[in-house]
Amino acid sequence: MPTNRTFTMIKPDAVADGFTGPIIQQIEAAGFKIIALKKVQLSSEEAGAFYAVHAERPFFQSLCDYMCSGAIIPMVLEKENAVEDFRKLIGATNPAQAAEGTIRKQFARSLESNAIHGSDSDENAAVEGAFFFTEKELV
Ligand code: PPS
Repeated sequence: MPTNRTFTMIKPDAVADGFTGPIIQQIEAAGFKIIALKKVQLSSEEAGAFYAVHAERPFFQSLCDYMCSGAIIPMVLEKENAVEDFRKLIGATNPAQAAEGTIRKQFARSLESNAIHGSDSDENAAVEGAFFFTEKELV
């Protein structure tokens, strides 16, 4: 995936709370172009594979259980400096520490149910995007 792309998922809490529309509106208003989008529900195995890098962390099982508890909206986004700018848009992992106006500050429930994921590097954005989308689906 080119370096002007990032990967995101609207997480089960935000989808269930009806925040998909407002979150997508803010993503587009911030200048990101959506080049792939779908609505899916992960199996336990798929969540474990996606978060395998965190397998040794104490919250791993809880995070996987949460991530397959309902529908998610994975997306690939395009914009100059996409990874860094998107992490700024969503705010700190813990919504209690997220800056005013960020997506997590506005829409997240808690540290675990934190509304949205954003890739932390160009390399991970490519791997994570490919987890959900084929090249042909990036339009
Ligand atoms: S990050 O974004 O990778 O820098 O954040 P990190 O702190 O490394 O967290 C990695 C993912 O784990 C989630 N997380 C947690 N889930 C449940 N409980 C606790 N305590 C917790 N701490 C972190 C965090 O939301 C990250 O998920 P993603 O989907 O990658 O944003």
